[in-house]
Amino acid sequence: MDRLFINLNLVTMQTSLSNPSDGYQVINNAMIGVTNGIIEYVGPACSDVFHGHPDVIDCGHALVTPGLIDCHTHLIFAGNRANEFELRLKGVPYEEIAKQGGGILSTVYATREATEDELYHLAVQRLEGLKRDGVTTVEIKSGYGLTLDDEIKMLNVAKRIATLPDMKVSTTLLAAHALPPEYHNRSDDYITLICDTMIPTVAEKKLADHIDVFCEGIGFSIEQCQRVFHAALKHGLGIKGHTEQLSNLGGSALAASMGANSVDHIEYLDEDGVKSLAQHNTVATLLPGAFYFLRETQLPPITLLRKHSVPMAISTDFNPGTSPIASLRVIMNMACTLFKLTPEESLRGVTCNAASALGLQHSRGKIDVGMEADFALWQLNSPAELSYRLGVPDLIARVVDGVLFHEN
Ligand code: NIG
Ligand code: FE
Repeated sequence: MDRLFINLNLVTMQTSLSNPSDGYQVINNAMIGVTNGIIEYVGPACSDVFHGHPDVIDCGHALVTPGLIDCHTHLIFAGNRANEFELRLKGVPYEEIAKQGGGILSTVYATREATEDELYHLAVQRLEGLKRDGVTTVEIKSGYGLTLDDEIKMLNVAKRIATLPDMKVSTTLLAAHALPPEYHNRSDDYITLICDTMIPTVAEKKLADHIDVFCEGIGFSIEQCQRVFHAALKHGLGIKGHTEQLSNLGGSALAASMGANSVDHIEYLDEDGVKSLAQHNTVATLLPGAFYFLRETQLPPITLLRKHSVPMAISTDFNPGTSPIASLRVIMNMACTLFKLTPEESLRGVTCNAASALGLQHSRGKIDVGMEADFALWQLNSPAELSYRLGVPDLIARVVDGVLFHEN
């Protein structure tokens, strides 16, 4: 054993979803032993587990949770859309701005102009907000390039972020985010480009773990999303979708039936859709930041998700148009206040269920023997406080692969 963290008030998130009444099961005066970045012991303080000559790190009774996982972000882009924010506040709807060539496309123009270095520095600054909230794994999507080279440019930036010692990155190709202007009135041709060129190239270069789509009136149709999913699966990539955000097209059920790890947004999902998530073990990722920022009123079907035991993840959806919010704890609070999740569901949503949304449930999202040693140390008394208070720098440190990273 090479490192031993002692004096922890530990929340492992090992309790099962099927028995939510388990509660947090905080273990006071606990220890975690780590060997080569993997957890070897977790449980009550116990001298028997001392073997070898581990570094002993006294955590002074900090509350310890799994490192938080932000499982849906658009962290990489240039420019901003404060002008559209002002327009929307004057009453112009998000979909109307998109139809007039603003929205996602305005970020596409800015991102195409930017170099990899510029995009990297912008993203790393945004990442600081997530780190302050205890995030140790972040998912990052492309989707503001929409040409082969510009999508690869974005994914290269994500891979460069993945080399940081204190952050793990899961990458997603979201070429089917919006129709690029060059393909005006030829959306099927653009889908062909995605399926026949972008996905094979990105798979060959190992630049993406998942393929994502925006299945929506202002995005792509069910048939087009199905083609993209087929191509992704053929090349061994995972699938996920932006589905049922603004209307109910059936994208969630399609994605689930094809084996998606998650479907995201889902404000307009109906009970049949919820049932198909349950049937196919697909995670429902809720994005309260976008709901809040777009001043939506259609709530996601939380009661139905609970009724059918669908695991719920929550995420920032950090992006310039619908959720410029680089704080996962603000999102945890919104999940409780806007969607009425319990603080326990909210914590599950950024740990074990967020790991499942990325297909990483066997290595991250819980503190357990054999899992990667990623955790967050908090100056808090109870786990509910994570969702409760905003803006206080409660994080003491993050541990990534057993290595301690102190916050400033
Ligand atoms: O998750 N729904 C589509 N994509 C993003 C918004 C992207 C943008 O407006 O730039 C989302 O909300
Ligand atoms: Fe998104």
